[in-house]
Amino acid sequence: MRIAVIPGDGIGKDVTAEAVKVVRAVCDVFGSRVDLEMLPWGADYYLQRGVTIPPDGYAMLRDQFEAIYIGALGDPRVADHRHAREILLGIRFELDLYVNYRPVRLLDERLCPLKGRRIEDVNFVVFRENTEGLYVSIGGRFKTGTEDEIGIQEELNTYKGVRRIVGHAFEFASANKLRRVCMADKSNAMAEGHALWQRVFRELAPRYPGVEARHLYIDALALLMIQDPSQFDVIVTNNMFGDIITDLGAALQGGLGLAASGNLHPGRTSMFEPVHGSAPPLAGKNVANPMAAILSAALMLEYLGLKNEAAAIDAAVKHAVAGGHGTKEIGGNLGTRETGDYITGVIQKHKA
Ligand code: IPM
Ligand code: MN
Repeated sequence: MRIAVIPGDGIGKDVTAEAVKVVRAVCDVFGSRVDLEMLPWGADYYLQRGVTIPPDGYAMLRDQFEAIYIGALGDPRVADHRHAREILLGIRFELDLYVNYRPVRLLDERLCPLKGRRIEDVNFVVFRENTEGLYVSIGGRFKTGTEDEIGIQEELNTYKGVRRIVGHAFEFASANKLRRVCMADKSNAMAEGHALWQRVFRELAPRYPGVEARHLYIDALALLMIQDPSQFDVIVTNNMFGDIITDLGAALQGGLGLAASGNLHPGRTSMFEPVHGSAPPLAGKNVANPMAAILSAALMLEYLGLKNEAAAIDAAVKHAVAGGHGTKEIGGNLGTRETGDYITGVIQKHKA
C-alpha cells in the first residue's frame, strides 16, 4: 500500500515525524506492508521553486497512492497562504474529498474543560461538507484598496453536494448503530442556500426510521455542544460551520493537540491530517503534541482496512494520555519526540 506523506510546514514536520514513527512501528508489529513516500511540498518548496504543487500533483496523488497524509500547512513568509490553499484545499477539491470526518472523543475525563463530564459524555462525530460552501472562492474584490472596496464571497450549495454529505451522515449512523443525527444550518437567516439543506434533510430522514433526525441552527448547536455534549452522536453541517464547530469539538477533547481528521471520498484515495495548524512559533521546539497527528494516522489505517493496526494505535494513545505521558498542555512533561517514542513503545510491548 502506498501512502503519500506531506509533512508541510511548522509543527506539521514535527508531528508527522512521530506519526510516521508510529505507523512504521505498528506495521512492523503486525507484519503489514505500507510504503510511505515523503513529498516536500510546503512553504520552503514554494519559496525556493515558485511551485505550490506540481501540475500533475493531484492526479499523481489520486492515481498512484492509496492515501495521503498531511502534517500542517501555513507559514508567515507566505502571507497570502497560497501554497496552503493550493495543497490542502486543492487536494480536498481536486480529489473530491467531500466528507470531512472529525471525531470528537474525550480520551480522559481530566482533559475536558467542562465540569463533571465523563468520557462517554463527549463522544460524537462531525461530518463537515468539504467541497462546497463558502470555501469555493467564488466572488471577488472590487475597488480594492479604496474606501469603496467591496469583497464578495459566495456560498455554493448544490443538491448533489448536500445530498451526499447528509446521506453519508445517516449511513454512518445506521452502520455504527448511532441513534441521533443532527443537521445544523442557518436557514433562518440564509433562506436561499440553506433551504436546500432543509429540503435534503427532510427527504432523507424518513429513510432511516431507526435514527432520530434533529435540526438545529448553528448558533444553538454551538451553545448545546458546550452545555451538554452528551446529546450528540452524529452532527452534519456545511464547510464553514464545520470548520468552526470542530475547533470547539477539539476544545471539548482537551485541545487541538488531540483532534484527528479524515478527508474522504469513500472508496477512493483519501487524505488524513490533524485538525490543528502549523503553529509557526512552536515549530522545531519539540513541544507540539503529536497525538492528533498519530490519531489521524490511525484513522488512515482504519480507512485502508488495517483495523487491528488502527486499534493498537488508538489504545496506545489512550494509555499514554491516561498515564500523563504526553506534552505539557495535557499535563505531561514529555516533548514531541518523547511522546512519539512512548506511544511506539506501548505498541511494541503490547504485541510482544
Ligand atoms: C481546517 C483548517 C483549514 C480549513 C484552513 C487551514 C484553510 O482550519 O482544516 O480546519 O478552514 O479548512
Ligand atoms: Mn479549522
